[in-house]
This record gives sequence, structure tokens and C-alpha cells, in this order.
Amino acid sequence: MTQLGGCKSSPANAPAAPVSPPRPAHSAHSSQPPIDCPLRKAGIDPGSLKPFEETQKYIDFLERPDRATWQKPDEVVAALGLTGTETVADVGAGSGYFSSRLARVVPKGRVVAIDVEPEMIRHIHHKSMEEQFTNVDAVLAPLDDPSIPRESDLVLICDVLHHVEAREAWLAKAFRELKPGSRLALIEFKEGTLPEGPPERMKIPRSGLLRLMQDAGFVLQSERPDLLPYQTFLVFARPDREAQMKEITYRPIGVVHSEFVKQEGTPIQSVFAGNAKGYIELDPAYAPALKDLEGMERIWVLYHLDRAAPYQPLVVPYLDDSKHGLFATRSPPRPNPIGISVLRLIAVKGNRLEVEGMDILDGTPLLDIKPYVPQFDAVEASRAGWFDHAKKKDHAADARFDSNR
Ligand SMILES: C[S@@+](CC[C@H](N)C(=O)[O-])C[C@H]1O[C@@H](n2cnc3c(N)ncnc32)[C@H](O)[C@@H]1O
Repeated sequence: MTQLGGCKSSPANAPAAPVSPPRPAHSAHSSQPPIDCPLRKAGIDPGSLKPFEETQKYIDFLERPDRATWQKPDEVVAALGLTGTETVADVGAGSGYFSSRLARVVPKGRVVAIDVEPEMIRHIHHKSMEEQFTNVDAVLAPLDDPSIPRESDLVLICDVLHHVEAREAWLAKAFRELKPGSRLALIEFKEGTLPEGPPERMKIPRSGLLRLMQDAGFVLQSERPDLLPYQTFLVFARPDREAQMKEITYRPIGVVHSEFVKQEGTPIQSVFAGNAKGYIELDPAYAPALKDLEGMERIWVLYHLDRAAPYQPLVVPYLDDSKHGLFATRSPPRPNPIGISVLRLIAVKGNRLEVEGMDILDGTPLLDIKPYVPQFDAVEASRAGWFDHAKKKDHAADARFDSNR
């Protein structure tokens, strides 16, 4: 770390932690135990460290009682949803402000407090011994390696990322070090004039945090925009790419309502549905995402064909009398029973979309909505294989693909 001096995380009127601290031969802590000393483990002779004065002021600054009014450490720790058995890595632990609180909520787990400043590691090590925490390890890390233990279930990185210069590479390492399925909680100061936090030039805006994390491979899992007055609080998941190649879970974002309660008699495509009306009830949480949709004449609606018969590789589609490969048809018995329809959008009323050309069963779980864009989606005179010679003219379904048949 090279920037603590310039960071208002150091108090404006308090000394900053040193850039490259001098290392006198004497130690203010000659009584420190030689056994299990994290600095000795890291190949550093604790006796070679400078006395604590300057670092102690920085520690006092991080631990100052009024910090809790806006840092809300207990609320932050509670928001992490720990059950008590996890291994939590506090990267850039500083004075151990969060490490000690985390240690209390994971009595059957471990907290690994990681920092690049030997004095901070020494402080945490001593504090843990004094406070008789048996589940805290202090680990000295190099500047370019978060050094997260593989077994970590959760990583907390609070007010640290803006200190890290090569943050893309640092986060990429964090991603590789973390096990699939683990989480990373990131706290950084918001932009704008605030009574706390680093100078504006050092801050990373929320959009920058999201981009950095996404580029490293993390996926945003949750956000607590209102919890901390001065800081952005984001929780990311370290996705399990292998597992993801086996199973993906989507949650419905709403429900489709129509006059059709069974497949038999339902239009087989929106184009055959005339002005059959219906509406989409979107989960109100997603209502802000409807902004500007009203300008669209038509929308793509993607949904879960919840009453589809099980997968069939070959099907006789409604528009023909012979078998075709399932993927050459729009028939419902698909390995992933996802339906798509282009519906005419009549009105957007809050979280309710009124539509026409309805070909979807009442109560169908909604997966997604996208605009129908003629420039993208209407390709004139495209070849459509067997559809171009389809032998039947049925415009409504029968029960052949109904799971209840
Ligand atoms: C503002 S303090 C935050 C300490 C603690 N997370 C808290 O909120 O109280 C920043 C800490 O990040 C550490 N740090 C800076 N760069 C780091 C890096 N590359 N890896 C690990 N820690 C780093 C510093 O040594 C310092 O202790």
C-alpha cells in the first residue's frame, strides 16, 4: 500500500500510516510470543519493526468510538448473514475493527485477518491474544496478493480497494483464491462531499466497483444501499462455473394472466391470437425496469412453460403431420421449457402490462421481457425450412403437449 498517507481514512489531523516505515532494530514489544507469531511465519523478525507510535495513531483512528455511528459495524456484520461456522477473511483488516466483531459471530468458525502492514498484523495478533479470541489468525500479505485462504466462505473488504493500485490483477487473484460458491462483501466510500472518507480522487464510484468485480468474474448478489450513509455496500458471489454448466436457477419475475386455462384451444402463436387480451403482472420490485417500455409497440415475453409435457426429441407440431426434431419446432416439450411470444403492448400501468395477441396460459411464470425491435427482429423473406411447406393450418393447440394429458 502506498497511499495511506493521502487517504482521509487516515484523519486529516492524525498522522497517516507510513508509506515505507523505517525499521529500527529495537522493538516496543519485546514480550511478544515467539510461538505462532504471524510475522515470523511470514519471514519478518518482529524485533526489527519500528515502535508503534505512528501506527498506533492510525489504529486509534480506525477504532475511534464515533466511527460506529456511520460505519455501523454490527449492522454490517449482521447483514452478512453468517451462521457461526464459516471461515471469514477480513482482507485489509487494519486494526481488526471488523475481525474482532466477526470472530464473535463465528464462534465455531475462523476469522483470518489479512493486511500488508506488519504493524497491523502484530496489533491484531496481540489483540486476539489479549481478548482471548481462539478463532482469529493474523496473516501478513504481499501488496499484490489478497492471500485469501481457500477455505474462506466469505471475504470482507472494507475501505481497502481504493488503496490497492493494481486492483484488476488483485481482484483476479482473489477470484482464483476463493472457492466456488463463496461470497465477497465490498464496502467503499460513496462519491461526493462527505464528512468521512478518502479524497474524491481516490474514490471508486459504484459503477467502477461493479465493472471491476464483474471483470474479475464476480456476480453481484445483493446490495444494501440504505444501510451505510457514506459507503456503498455490495455483496458478490464467486460463481461456481462448473456447477453453473450443470444447473442454472431462474426465479420468476411475475405472472402472465390470460383467458386460456388449458393448452387445448389456446392460440399456438401470438400471430394467430388476434386481439386476445391478457396482462402481465410484474413483481413490483422490478417496476423501475419498465421505464421507456411504453414506446414499444411489441414486446418479447419469455416464460416458463410450466404445464408442458416432458422432453420429446421428435414431435409432430401443430402445423404439420410428420415428426420433426424438437429444436426445429416451437413445441413445448423442451429440455428447458422456455416459451417466447411477441405480444402487442397496449399499456403500462405501474407494474401491470396490458397486452394483446395472447397465446400464453393463465398463471404462467414470467422469466423476462425484452423490446421487439424491427431492425433486429424482423428479417424479411427468411427461409423457415418445413414451416415454408407446412401441411396444416391449425391455429389453436390441442392437448398433445399438455403435462396433464
Ligand atoms: C482504511 S484501512 C481499513 C481497515 C479495516 N478494513 C476497517 O474498515 O477498519 C485500509 C487497510 O487496508 C490495508 N491494505 C492496503 N492495501 C492492501 C492490500 N493490497 N492488501 C491487503 N491490505 C491492504 C492497509 O494496510 C490498511 O490496514
